[in-house]
Amino acid sequence: MNTRRRSLTLLAAAALAATLSAGAHAQANEKIKVGLMLPYTGTFAALGTAIENGFRLYVQEQGGKIGGREIEFFKVDDESDPAKGPENANKLVKRDQVDVLVGTVHSGVAMAMAKVAKDTNTLLIVPNAGADAVTGPLCAPNIFRSSFSNWQPAYAMGLVAAEQQKHKTAVTLTWKYAAGDESVRGFKEGFESKGGKVVRELNLPFPNVEFQSLLTEIAALKPDAVYVFFAGGGAVKFVKDYAAAGLKGRIPLYGAGFLTDGTLEAQGAAAEGLLTTLHYADGLNNAKDKTFRLNYAKTYKLQPDVYAVQGYDAAQMLAAGLQAAGGDIKKRDAVVKGMEQARIDSPRGSFTMSKAHNPVQDIYLRKVEGKENRVVSVAAKNLADPARGCRMTQ
Ligand code: PHB
Repeated sequence: MNTRRRSLTLLAAAALAATLSAGAHAQANEKIKVGLMLPYTGTFAALGTAIENGFRLYVQEQGGKIGGREIEFFKVDDESDPAKGPENANKLVKRDQVDVLVGTVHSGVAMAMAKVAKDTNTLLIVPNAGADAVTGPLCAPNIFRSSFSNWQPAYAMGLVAAEQQKHKTAVTLTWKYAAGDESVRGFKEGFESKGGKVVRELNLPFPNVEFQSLLTEIAALKPDAVYVFFAGGGAVKFVKDYAAAGLKGRIPLYGAGFLTDGTLEAQGAAAEGLLTTLHYADGLNNAKDKTFRLNYAKTYKLQPDVYAVQGYDAAQMLAAGLQAAGGDIKKRDAVVKGMEQARIDSPRGSFTMSKAHNPVQDIYLRKVEGKENRVVSVAAKNLADPARGCRMTQ
């Protein structure tokens, strides 16, 4: 090689080294962009806020960084409107170029998000919506859930209603959409596997709250028990209407625990004594829950609920992925592996991920006492969603 060529080669090598080191430097300083797609208006507004609060609390506890990286938030109000789901998710993915999507509450919107996440290969953590499909037919390496599948608490309630409460017949009532349908299906599966019979399935469109004619129908049907799926503002109204219609003392009411989570202040005496099943409860008495509750109350002047826990755990899952990848969110395989293998020290009790990326967790039976959903027992230990239809390929 002549002198001129050698010095050109050296120059090129130096330039390359400079670029590489600038790249590494930029990457170490670059913030992780987190896209929060949550309902900030409508019947689920309080749920969206609790999820965001929980997520931010974990980041704050880590000194504002996870996996050694600062976090930058981007937010979209999804209005719990599935029709706007693809556009809203794309605002975060394409316009804001987020590294990870976190959302949402409503199952229909979450399914739209899962499709966008699949198409664009964006990392998605679902911090509430239970749509069975997210960890079923739509499952993918880049899609995780920090909450539950609609089947999980519902199936456990079906077992309790038949085996422990000895009910023979039940009427179900819910909003007509994925979460309601799947919750009823899960309850029915548990209840009928133990000899119970669902005699009528009633519903109304989401997010309507005109319950009167349905309550009249329930009174006429006189089942042994009623199972419902409602949440947020709709759950508040339903529990009050059930009591006001005079049904509370006559036909026992059960639900997936969303019926009474984050809602007891507003429901008052109408909720007293209700039995529900969920992956969180008051009085769990574990160390993590105690510090979580203290820190949450101190930061937000509010008591946390299941939604806050799910937001907090979404951040913990992301942190586990980032740690495994040395803080580099672009190392997708390492991030995914870290999340898959994590044991999350959750306020609900620790949990692991199923092969379909859904929490394997205890489902508690809870009873409303005053303003609390007191834990009664473990209704289903280490319950894994069956993940029907999940083929983990991409
Ligand atoms: C859902 O749509 O999946 C959903 C909404 C609210 C809840 C739970 C599940 O509290």
